[in-house]
Amino acid sequence: MADFLRVADVSEIPDPGKTLVDVDGDMVALFHVGGVFYAIDDVCTHDGGPLADGELRDHKISCPRHGAKFDIRTGAALSMPAIRSTRAHDVKVEDGGVWVRLRAEAGSGGPPLHGAVSAPVAAPLPVTSAAVAAPVPTVGGGSPAVVAPGESGPLCEDRVREMLKEVKDPELFVNIVDLGLIYGVTLSPSADVPGKLHAAIDMTMTSPACPAGPQLIADTKRCVGASPEVAAVEVRIVMEPPWTPDRMTDAARDQLGIF
Ligand code: FES
Repeated sequence: MADFLRVADVSEIPDPGKTLVDVDGDMVALFHVGGVFYAIDDVCTHDGGPLADGELRDHKISCPRHGAKFDIRTGAALSMPAIRSTRAHDVKVEDGGVWVRLRAEAGSGGPPLHGAVSAPVAAPLPVTSAAVAAPVPTVGGGSPAVVAPGESGPLCEDRVREMLKEVKDPELFVNIVDLGLIYGVTLSPSADVPGKLHAAIDMTMTSPACPAGPQLIADTKRCVGASPEVAAVEVRIVMEPPWTPDRMTDAARDQLGIF
């Protein structure tokens, strides 16, 4: 096991505060919160963003690139688009200095010291529901069409949602329906093309600055627009209520290895 290395003077880091330190060649984000120091890798597990540059709130640090949050005490990923922990390290305060001992990997190492506890491999993300339910649309004023997924028949919300399972987040490789990104589907008679439908899809993103957004919108339009019953597809991006991991289905959580 690596030795503790002195990385800073206690007086250098305000409380609350953070800094970036070099620990034997590894860049480590060092935090001081509530009189306790914590250390995690300066690496967001989503796409390598520099965590020490992020916003610190209580014991959470937000990646400045796409907004994933991590627990500075454990390195656990708390929000998408990150799904894996970053490495947490052992920290001690001695002789007026802050000392860090590198752990080999997330969740490894010796006993917790000064608040640095073992980091779980995956973030604990509770499940409550898959997505916000939307009413089954009525087309042309009749009774709502109820068609089992995969069956043919009049286009309805269930069929549109089945179609949208073809659209996958390019970074997570999980479809947007199981991710809980589809908040609603509204089908109405097209004003321009008699006998066809206008499809309005309320979609959210895992974060306001989601880099996959333009591709997801284009793929959604292409996917639903391929139906011969659809004249036009409108994708409306909604950020309220904000997406949270508990909108994912069990299938998505299985795929992402989140238990
Ligand atoms: S690199 Fe950190 S959220 Fe994307």
